[in-house]
Amino acid sequence: MAEPNQTQILQAAKALKNGELIAFATETVYGLGADATNADAVARIFSAKGRPRFNPLIIHVPDLAHASAFGRFSALATKLADHFWPGPLTLVVPLAKDCGIADLVTAGLDTIAIRVPGHPVAQKLLKEIARPLAAPSANRSGHVSPTSADHVREDFGDAITMVLDGGPTQLGLESTVVSVVGPEPKLLRPGAVTRETLEAVLRQSLATSIPIADAPRSPGQLTSHYAPRARVRLNVATLRPGEALLAFGPNVPETTGPCFNLSPSGDVGEAAINFFRALRLLDRAGTKSIAVMPIPATGLGEAINDRLTRAAAARA
Ligand code: TXA
Ligand code: MG
Repeated sequence: MAEPNQTQILQAAKALKNGELIAFATETVYGLGADATNADAVARIFSAKGRPRFNPLIIHVPDLAHASAFGRFSALATKLADHFWPGPLTLVVPLAKDCGIADLVTAGLDTIAIRVPGHPVAQKLLKEIARPLAAPSANRSGHVSPTSADHVREDFGDAITMVLDGGPTQLGLESTVVSVVGPEPKLLRPGAVTRETLEAVLRQSLATSIPIADAPRSPGQLTSHYAPRARVRLNVATLRPGEALLAFGPNVPETTGPCFNLSPSGDVGEAAINFFRALRLLDRAGTKSIAVMPIPATGLGEAINDRLTRAAAARA
């Protein structure tokens, strides 16, 4: 797969400066980007996705020096940024005063979520445009996150100007979100950097605090996240008739229906890469219910189980 050439990068940067939306590859999932300093452009993200406006967006910048213009970095925040950027870690820090970010990006909060993606397509775009990009995952709100350019087109068709295609994403899950606003760091969203890796760098354990806007919903309440059309049934040992199977590991129950094994060898990293694509494939097979085998909750398994719980909360 050829990566976008310089002409396409320039075209994308121009469209963004005009207030248009552009989807682009990152190492986690594809992002739906807008100029974070342009309130009208940011509003377009919320309407294109059908995203509730109380759910703030991440901004993307090319490095820590740019990040420091928009957020205040404590010694702890700087340590995490130095260690993990560029990469799949998002830091929530106090918002810098009068920094030009549209209020809609932060949903009026006095904190801001910032990420420095490592993917060359994202890096080239950010360096070219020289403005912060607000970019949530490029899927309709509540739907499965996109790990390829085709997934973005499935959700948006011609509604967005262009997709900067960088091939299938290398990690398959969104960035880990850590708040470094208070003295103690908090894990707001498990993701592609594991808790274990973060705790080893921090030399302390990490408290978990899932924001209300993101907490898995109890059955029947509001919308879910990461949800395919089919129902999702977790920790399944025995399949019900007509169910599709999302399998993990070598010991798979027999089935004649649609089946995707996330990792026949039982490797959670491989499972993370395949996860969103597998949900889309099984959903497309048209079954009413997807049965999911247990997946270990350690390492990247924490983020996979987080997404699964939300997907299952959909219409349980
Ligand atoms: O990997 C990723 O992070 C992808 C790629 C495109 O960079 N982006 C992504 O964005 O997943 P999004 O909008 O789908 O997720 C942003 C998360 C949400 O959980 C949101 O609630 C949280 O970050 N967030 C954003 N700003 C925040 C803030 N000021 N305080 C707390 N949480 C915040
Ligand atoms: Mg998302």
